Amino acid sequence: MKILVTGGAGFIGSHTVVELQNSGHEPVVLDNLYNASSKVIGRIEAITGKHVPFYKADIRDREALAEIFEKEKPEAVIHFAGLKAVGESVRKPWEYYENNIGGTLTLVDEMRKHGCKNIIFSSSATVYGDPAFVPITEECPKGQCTNPYGWTKSMLEQILSDIQKADPEWNVVLLRYFNPIGAHKSGTIGENPNGIPNNLMPYITQVAVGKLEKLHVFGNDYDTPDGTGVRDYIHVVDLAKGHVCALKKVAPGSGLSVYNLGTGTGYSVLDIVKNFEAATGKNIPYVIDPRRPGDIATCYSSAEKAKEELGWEAQYGIKEMCEDAWRWQSTNPNGYGD
Ligand code: NAD
Ligand code: UD1
Repeated sequence: MKILVTGGAGFIGSHTVVELQNSGHEPVVLDNLYNASSKVIGRIEAITGKHVPFYKADIRDREALAEIFEKEKPEAVIHFAGLKAVGESVRKPWEYYENNIGGTLTLVDEMRKHGCKNIIFSSSATVYGDPAFVPITEECPKGQCTNPYGWTKSMLEQILSDIQKADPEWNVVLLRYFNPIGAHKSGTIGENPNGIPNNLMPYITQVAVGKLEKLHVFGNDYDTPDGTGVRDYIHVVDLAKGHVCALKKVAPGSGLSVYNLGTGTGYSVLDIVKNFEAATGKNIPYVIDPRRPGDIATCYSSAEKAKEELGWEAQYGIKEMCEDAWRWQSTNPNGYGD
């Protein structure tokens, strides 16, 4: 299937393009390179041995979208493009709503004008807020988000659901990711955060490589086995494969589908530190700091629905997530180097 992948040069997008090509699909990448390197495309091509059509374009640019749809005629869109820094979204809410919501509205309008009504959307476990129960099933009620980034995900889920309801020709898949980490086995593509990382694993790998002095553990007084926050970390390659499996839910008549993409297992911050040290032989010094505002104690998925309906299940364990994150960071200490 020919698939337009917005944000396809980013962390999750690049890994998904690899898995799409490996499965015989024809991904076409659109990315404005706001948070990605132009080198990614060549690296993907080196992994798969296949050409990746690439458009440096913005999802808010109607003319560019129209040209791409007319030329490529994709059957479906996998929509990763968006801003994703939680702290920045608190300081720049307008920019987040304009890019993520405005951009998606423009994209969806051009899609329908060109007769492409199949979309897979990158949502997040953040839509559950402080979850009503764990493991979190898709039936768990959505909650209060603590930042504008999270609200863009929650609102876009609603917007896409309403569009599908009004026009049943649409097939909409909402994928709620838990915490993607790791990198492709080749060590040539991976996560490339700007500045000091906000997320746990890139922070740890930058401590391991000597760019940061020590990890700051945000709180050890949560109601969890060791007091630190518990999350459902998932290997980015498993997450990428989840998108390939989700394509079956853009078949005609599928309607609206919602899936968690997680492993179903929770690890604490200190579990991750220990597993990283064991997998890589690197020592990770840390200090305990106060809780980070907006953080919750525990968040992990029930991965049953995706297993039953998509035939998808995460394959990689925490050891490989740590090893692969480290391979990427240690062989590319400055990311893509641009
Ligand atoms: P990323 O920043 O690496 O990828 C997003 C890509 O979108 C970047 O390459 C960026 O340049 C591009 N982009 C941003 N705005 C654009 C625009 N207006 N037009 C065209 N391209 C644009 O992030 P990621 O971690 O790969 O995340 C991909 C998607 O998954 C995002 O929507 C993110 O919110 C969502 N998500 C990520 C996580 C996570 O932990 N990484 C968790 C849940 C959901
Ligand atoms: C965060 C975002 C979430 C987003 C996700 C992926 C918040 C409140 N949530 O989720 O919206 O979808 O990233 O981008 O920001 N930790 C430390 N020290 C660090 C970094 C993290 O102790 O330097 C802890 C956190 O307190 C948490 C765990 O590690 O318990 C995971 O944090 P992180 O990787 O930022 O992910 P989330 O908070 O789950």
